[in-house]
Amino acid sequence: MNRPPSSFLDTLRARLPLVTVISQRVRLTRRGREYTGLCPFHSEKTPSFTVSEEKGFFYCFGCGAHGDVISFIMQADGLSFSDAVKHLSQAAGLKSTLYSNYDYSIKTSTEYSDLLDVMEMATRFYEKQLRLPTGKNGLEYLYNRGLNDEIIAAFRLGFAPPGNAGSTTLKREGINETLLVEGGLLIHPKNGGSPYDTFRDRVIFPITDIRGRVIAFGGRTLGTAQPKYLNSVATPLFRKGDVLYGLAQARSPALEKGTVLVTEGYMDVIALAGAGFSHTVAQLGTVLTEGQLAVLWRLAPEPILCFDGDTAGRLASIRTAQRILSLLKPGLSVRFALLPEEKDPDTLIRTEGASAMAEILSRATPLFEEVWQNLIKDHQLDTPEQLAGLEQAIKSLTSRIVNLTVRQYYQILLHERHRVLLRKMARGLGPLPNHNKKHVRLTGSIPQMKAMADRVFTAFLLTHPQVLMCHIEQVAELLAGNTALSHLIENAATVLAASPDIDGASLISILKRDCQEIAMIGLERDLHSALQRQCQDPEGDYQRMLLALYDQALTREIERMQTMLTIDPSPETWQRLQILQKERNQIHDNKIMPPLS
Ligand code: CTP
Ligand code: MN
Repeated sequence: MNRPPSSFLDTLRARLPLVTVISQRVRLTRRGREYTGLCPFHSEKTPSFTVSEEKGFFYCFGCGAHGDVISFIMQADGLSFSDAVKHLSQAAGLKSTLYSNYDYSIKTSTEYSDLLDVMEMATRFYEKQLRLPTGKNGLEYLYNRGLNDEIIAAFRLGFAPPGNAGSTTLKREGINETLLVEGGLLIHPKNGGSPYDTFRDRVIFPITDIRGRVIAFGGRTLGTAQPKYLNSVATPLFRKGDVLYGLAQARSPALEKGTVLVTEGYMDVIALAGAGFSHTVAQLGTVLTEGQLAVLWRLAPEPILCFDGDTAGRLASIRTAQRILSLLKPGLSVRFALLPEEKDPDTLIRTEGASAMAEILSRATPLFEEVWQNLIKDHQLDTPEQLAGLEQAIKSLTSRIVNLTVRQYYQILLHERHRVLLRKMARGLGPLPNHNKKHVRLTGSIPQMKAMADRVFTAFLLTHPQVLMCHIEQVAELLAGNTALSHLIENAATVLAASPDIDGASLISILKRDCQEIAMIGLERDLHSALQRQCQDPEGDYQRMLLALYDQALTREIERMQTMLTIDPSPETWQRLQILQKERNQIHDNKIMPPLS
């Protein structure tokens, strides 16, 4: 076997985290950014063997053994280079795809480094053309899309002139036709006509491997020619599903920031990088593949996937969510950032600026939320049959999760949410009763509201377990700042999950037995009086309490604004005060419902 292409070896390394491979033979413990353990290559009592996932290297301070994942297997198992590669390819699931597709034995004349050289020469050619009169339209096009020379240089953008100028020049520089064809730059028509350049009259986006070596190109038409983007065909260097555009530039910013953004297109990566989001890659018009995800997870535990705000983008996000489920591992997930209608990151930044993008990223939804939202979007939930349908859907969805630990948590949490819906239906509540009243948006009073969600509120909920169950998420949010009360509610939720029909008195006696908080914060009195009160309409009481909390929060905020006004009599302060007062009046006139999360 000849040496496989280095892009193949890079893929191999990307798919097999060093720590995972080594920890099958050596017990590793984490120390800071590295792992240590007893060296497998010499005998020792204290660990001097270190592994750095970030660098992809191991090193032993005792015996000097060092290397990457391939040389580890060679040394540990006494294998030759090619046998180690074979073994690892199998472990990485690469054998059936990349590995066996190319027969290295016939490649004697075409070394892969030759192909890389050809790509580099082509890149320089395209870059140069962009600055010549032939490339004027291309350069203007890029300027019109808001790019400057610095970013054009950073991404090595270029221009492929019309006709066969590219291949002609490269041939003159000594590259033979076979290499041009193999590199995907020249096409031999099947019907035997004369060969022609793949990229003609297009702006060129070089696609690199993780080390920044060009392995393929994307070309965009300046006009309306189809297709809009043309990509290199699969070559020994390039397979679309294994590559992320912009990875070389994004790698270290991503590691530094601990997060990475994944977009749909070339221009999104470039526009985001120009706006300070240098930790961005693109998936080149494919659904995210397993290989790409493995690479992303080496950069960050929760890559943020940005989808265009069109129908295609929405569908892609649903499909991607479903596909990722099967690949989840403990501690690794993704988040979803959905862009506004008809926008992609590129257009959003140009029309609304970097802050709009930052805002959207800050609201990115965890995969779990995305999954739940997609589930309930598909189901009407007014009848037992429909609830049963939802339960079925939850079962079939979670069965896709291969990792058992992750699957278990998805099951628990999805069933918990299902149960909340069930409780609501059992009490004939349906959706929250706000038909004739206006729903207000929060104007920023939730922090104060939290501060006021107090012992009386908690005592009421514990004595009315079914109300608590119906609103568990909202309650959890309101009490989030108060450790003792949150802990109590958490415990109550666990008890309720096991026995949903428990009454208040029994719940409280269990909690008194298990939680010290009740005695600690002197909740007994509140509980006692809450139990004494006979209430006819617990759900109504809950809503009224919430309203009262909101009212108090508003009043406090209004007072704060009035004080502010004396220090800072700006129109903004004045306006905010007006809004708050109007809202409070509406509450008093009983015109609105409290804000519900
Ligand atoms: N794409 C592709 N082939 C196509 C169309 C798209 O490979 N015929 C890929 C490209 O990587 C492109 C991405 O899918 O960047 C997203 O496509 P699209 O949203 O249609 O294009 P934009 O990135 O918005 O392109 P532009 O802003 O240049 O119009
Ligand atoms: Mn676009």
